[in-house]
Amino acid sequence: MSHATLDAFMKSYKQRLEEDMRLAVSQLNAPSIIKEAMDYSLQAGGKRIRPILLFATIQAFQRDPVIGMPIAAALEMIHTYSLIHDDLPSMDNDDFRRGKLTNHKVFGEAFAILAGDALLTFGFQRIAEATDLDAEQKVRLIAFLAKHAGPEGMVGGQTADIQGENKQLTFEEMEYIHLHKTGKLLTFAVLAGAIICEASKQQFQLFETFATHLGLAFQIRDDILDIEGDQMKLGKPVGSDTGNQKSTYPALLTLDGAKKHLNKHLKAAKQSLQKTELNTELLMELTDLIGARDH
Ligand code: IPE
Ligand code: IPE
Ligand code: MG
Ligand code: MG
Ligand code: MG
Repeated sequence: MSHATLDAFMKSYKQRLEEDMRLAVSQLNAPSIIKEAMDYSLQAGGKRIRPILLFATIQAFQRDPVIGMPIAAALEMIHTYSLIHDDLPSMDNDDFRRGKLTNHKVFGEAFAILAGDALLTFGFQRIAEATDLDAEQKVRLIAFLAKHAGPEGMVGGQTADIQGENKQLTFEEMEYIHLHKTGKLLTFAVLAGAIICEASKQQFQLFETFATHLGLAFQIRDDILDIEGDQMKLGKPVGSDTGNQKSTYPALLTLDGAKKHLNKHLKAAKQSLQKTELNTELLMELTDLIGARDH
């Protein structure tokens, strides 16, 4: 598989996803301010890495990635809600996201909080109302997404992250944070693809191992970029973690140690993927891309 193929795949599905989300929000019967605030952050131009992982996993089973659209849209909405809330003054207090002013800077805190609430709730509505999946699969996906996004998942990680500010955490405590605040939604992306394609138990476990390593790699890269990234490319401020006294991989392992750790997880991720014996070229390339990303 060539880079051109991955590029074309990413571009095509990013565009379809963005159109799907724009249409879904525009059709809501809701006050225009909440629709505007939801749309502002959704269309601000994220990488859409979670939806792309979902689509690429479906492609590994040689099924049409489009069947995952409502799940991909729900996932991106829930991820976007987590970013809106993460940037609030009472959390990380950041002014820029995806190259634009943060939601609360434009709409005020009350509407930013509500836009986050709306994206979280509407995400689940999208899955429940999906017409291409059977009821049993939808219930499984809804329960799975709730587990990965909620207190046992991303929210648990964000909680521990806030509790850990201004403290020297152990490596295990930091890893819990990363596995949850970032890892769980990325893992959901891959496993939702496996659920939709009715993966075998063994394939499911291999994808779970793959995604767990990938999630950690993704967050280690995020921490490294917070130090040596380019704010223009990133679209969010650098130095936010240091300012908030977060326990990050570079803080605990040094920058060089963090980079070694990143490579270890990338390698383990790809080994697990190989063992699925599916058509995983796209996912392999995506893994490399995530390890080397500059935004
Ligand atoms: C940022 O996620 C928050 C983390 C979990 C590290 P992304 O880096 O995927 O942000 P967008 O969606 O591209 O803006
Ligand atoms: C946040 O982690 C992860 C979320 C669940 C939103 P960070 O606080 O490190 O994310 P950035 O660096 O602001 O994107
Ligand atoms: Mg944060
Ligand atoms: Mg943050
Ligand atoms: Mg960060």
